[in-house]
Amino acid sequence: KQKVTIPALKEMKEQGKKIRMVTAYDYPTGILVDKTDIELILVGDSLGMVVLGYDGTVPVTMEEMIHHCKATVRGAKNTLIVGDLPFGSYNMSISDAVYNATRMMKEGGADCIKLEGGLPVVETVRAIVNGGVPVMAHIGLTPQTASALGGFKVQGKDAAAAERMINEALKLEEAGAFAIVLEAIPAPLAEIITKKLTIPTIGIGAGVHCDGQVLVTHDLIGLFDRFVPKFVKQYANISQDIVAAFNAYAEEVATGKFPGPEHSFTMKDDVLKRLY
Ligand code: KIV
Ligand code: NA
Repeated sequence: KQKVTIPALKEMKEQGKKIRMVTAYDYPTGILVDKTDIELILVGDSLGMVVLGYDGTVPVTMEEMIHHCKATVRGAKNTLIVGDLPFGSYNMSISDAVYNATRMMKEGGADCIKLEGGLPVVETVRAIVNGGVPVMAHIGLTPQTASALGGFKVQGKDAAAAERMINEALKLEEAGAFAIVLEAIPAPLAEIITKKLTIPTIGIGAGVHCDGQVLVTHDLIGLFDRFVPKFVKQYANISQDIVAAFNAYAEEVATGKFPGPEHSFTMKDDVLKRLY
């Protein structure tokens, strides 16, 4: 496997080849994704919910993101790594945003960053790109500001909202974003945006016509079931396997079946004799 380049993602769009992205937050998952043909890893701030147990993504800090990004990068040497900028790291000033995007690359080891938002972040995106950090945009349902959107619900359903979103996507492309995540929007709207843009769209809950797809790994493998959104497909139920393994271990320890002789160390008889 060879690490995909950012220009190659645009070529994939032009050739109609689908772009695959999943999240990873640690070294072992980085290694596993690296064994597959999946082009991109997102070290998403969704880690706040699925690995740190927060109610949402808002509390996630730059330090937490960098910590998880570093671990993931050590495992995934041949997969392009997108580091998600957490809430509060790019909303206060453009210079803050450029600084934190740079940290994600320099300290976290990410190849590029992602941030959420439409028109209000266009100039931020431009400044980060000019600073030398490639930016993936993210519009539609933006979890960091979900409460202002009225909760975790589909965006862009009426004509005015849909037109606004098309305009945002075009402005983000013009500002230099190399790709754009479309989250929880009607499939026909995602198709229109995908056709209007020259940069790839990566959908989550945005239908099959996007240039690529992304899922949260913990949703995809069934390792997080506090809630399962409509747009998630579970390809495995790892939670069940893990609980079964824990139960089998607990049972074998209780009954003395584990550890067996094959898991235990021996001593020479003459050494042992002296101890009695
Ligand atoms: O943090 C995340 O996992 C994301 C994806 C859902 C796009 O932003
Ligand atoms: Na995110």
